[in-house]
Amino acid sequence: MSVILGVESSCDETAVAIYTPSLGIIAHEIYSQIDLHQIYGGVVPELASRDHIRKTLPLIQTALECAKLSASAIDAIAYTRGPGLIGALMVGASIAKALAYAWQVPAVGVHHMEAHLMAALLEERAPAYPFLALLVSGGHTQLVQVNDFGSYILLGQSVDDAAGEAFDKTAKLLGLPYPGGPHLARLAKTGNPNTFHFPRPMTDRLSGLNFSFSGLKTHAVHCYQKNGVAAKADIAAAFEEAVIDTLFIKCQRALEQTNLHRLVVVGGVSANEQLRAKLAQLNIEVYFPRKEYCTDNGAMVAFTGYQRFSRGFYDKDQTIQVKPRWEMTEITD
Ligand code: KG4
Ligand code: ZN
Repeated sequence: MSVILGVESSCDETAVAIYTPSLGIIAHEIYSQIDLHQIYGGVVPELASRDHIRKTLPLIQTALECAKLSASAIDAIAYTRGPGLIGALMVGASIAKALAYAWQVPAVGVHHMEAHLMAALLEERAPAYPFLALLVSGGHTQLVQVNDFGSYILLGQSVDDAAGEAFDKTAKLLGLPYPGGPHLARLAKTGNPNTFHFPRPMTDRLSGLNFSFSGLKTHAVHCYQKNGVAAKADIAAAFEEAVIDTLFIKCQRALEQTNLHRLVVVGGVSANEQLRAKLAQLNIEVYFPRKEYCTDNGAMVAFTGYQRFSRGFYDKDQTIQVKPRWEMTEITD
């Protein structure tokens, strides 16, 4: 039996989990840096790195205690190699590789977006391959044809802001706290999505499967300047509906184009309730991870580490290498 420790540190969450194939996730610890970055209105990379340094080892210790395991029970250590903030990635990678060296076990570098994708396969109701994946996070908006583990075809992606980034920037503009996505979604519940009309960018057939969300943010700025504070909730509702409709139209189109009948939706924005409800209307099987596995977490890294380790993919030397920019289609071994 393999026992895999997973360490996630790509952005502003320090997260650690332990996975075994027979029992699933047996420990799951997360420390969010929200309070640290709040006053700056966004993630400050240097502060993020320093905080990962403080939190990673204590979280690993807590996870081991929680699973009632000693370090000698760990068979491999998975860590997020990229994409993400270089300093934050370096902290997680250095700690994972140092521990792997000390404990004489392999280290397994994991792709953050592949880990988001695998989060859906952690669920009891898991999708079978092949499927269409919509990856929607703070840094990515992508449609990917997933033929098997490690076999990915990029069908489309955002040409500017990612969906989560657009949520966060629009939320900031409306005076909501960081990270704005969940706050904007909460405010949208109290607004009327029909008071203002927001465009559905790049949904004409010619635009294919790419996305563009930065125009929606600009539209929100103008709408706010013109209508003032009283219109905030209606702007939030119209913005959210425009993003969700756009994602829905593109998913529909990608399903038609690929002839796939299963859709898997992952990444931070997949926690959005309106998005989940809208995509559930598609006449196919739709899969989401549970909400705590939508946003950054250690469980997805531990599980992806297991998938890779069990196929013989792990770091073959001691060098610490991270990849701040890294396409999912370029994952090798
Ligand atoms: O996957 P994630 O935790 O980190 C990245 O890999 O980027 O995604 C974070 C993003 C943020 O932009 C956050 O605002 C957004 O996901 N998000 C949401 C919701 N929950 C998180 N956006 C809209 N509605 C939500 N409920
Ligand atoms: Zn993420």
